[in-house]
Amino acid sequence: MAALLKPAVSLASSQFMGQSLKPAAASSSVATTQQYTPLSIRAGSYADELVKTANSIASKGRGILAMDESNATCGKRLASIGLENTEANRQAYRQLLCTAPGLGEYISGAILFEETLYQSTLDGKKFVDCLKEGGIAPGIKVDKGLVPLAGSNDESWCQGLDGLASRSAEYYKQGARFAKWRTVVSIPNGPSELAVQEAAWGLARYAAISQDNGLVPIVEPEILLDGEHGIDRTLAVAEKVWNEVFYFLAKNNVMYEGILLKPSMVTPGAECKDRASPEKVAEYTLNMLKRRVPPAVPGIMFLSGGQSEVEATLNLNAMNQSPNPWHVSFSYARALQNTVLKTWGGNPENVKKAQTSLLIRAKANSLAQLGKYSAEGESEEAKKGMFVAGYTY
Ligand code: 13P
Repeated sequence: MAALLKPAVSLASSQFMGQSLKPAAASSSVATTQQYTPLSIRAGSYADELVKTANSIASKGRGILAMDESNATCGKRLASIGLENTEANRQAYRQLLCTAPGLGEYISGAILFEETLYQSTLDGKKFVDCLKEGGIAPGIKVDKGLVPLAGSNDESWCQGLDGLASRSAEYYKQGARFAKWRTVVSIPNGPSELAVQEAAWGLARYAAISQDNGLVPIVEPEILLDGEHGIDRTLAVAEKVWNEVFYFLAKNNVMYEGILLKPSMVTPGAECKDRASPEKVAEYTLNMLKRRVPPAVPGIMFLSGGQSEVEATLNLNAMNQSPNPWHVSFSYARALQNTVLKTWGGNPENVKKAQTSLLIRAKANSLAQLGKYSAEGESEEAKKGMFVAGYTY
């Protein structure tokens, strides 16, 4: 009977929060909370700030503008509108995005590539300051990209841990308050145990290092859309990947209240004939997340992964039809920028029009975050898919 009356001290849930408890001496017959040493929470001197930053990014009706394409990827986007990949053209495009009036109503954070973090408008105002004045937190892509993973089934791993602590400290000084690390998992190529474990371990080390340096880590194991598999297969892989990610986040004592997640939505593979409605995508995705993600995490900020602008917004809207344990929102690049880029076309006269189309997309996703979006009146351009096999970022 005494055993049944023991106070409930749950080791499992405490460890889950990035806290550590020492078990009572084996000889004790009745465990009480006094027999445990005080909780130690690791996040260090930035703990309060990290929680504040994460919660302000995960705020009602707002999400993230991902504009952190590497120079090579930005070059491909510029080439699609006939522009050369020069620093001046990248600067002009990023200026258009960072200075769109009123963007902060819908956008709470913007992820930048390193070059952009240090760039300014043509009038000499730092992009970081333009964002901050608009109520948008500047973020920074800190990974160094994907390379082949030796010993795997033609899969990849993400580089960037060497020197990450000192780079992160510099980015913080420059104004960044959150970070992004994108690694990928391929379904048609496996995924192998090795690739999933490597992805999860890298994300966890990066998350711990970011928190030590005042940056809220966005944890992004992108499960690529490539493949003919159905939605059930994506669900199984997503559950496995997130299981592994949280296992290693806990082992690295990452404080869950100070992170954000950037998952792929659970959808059928891009080449699967059996398509899924937004309601089905929402049901599968939310089921997966509820099974794997503790409510201590403030925000789930989805990537768009090659879905069309309208599809990504409809799916997000379907996920916000009833309350969730976390803020469920967006961190889109392609699904926020596609129409903007086409409207601009590299012509200075079109800057205002392009900024208006950015606000239209941002507002649509803001409404989807609130569960109030309807696709009525959306343009044909916004309905075009953007899937590219083997897309790199
Ligand atoms: P997409 O929304 O284009 O998939 O971009 C995701 C991403 O990781 C950018 O930060």
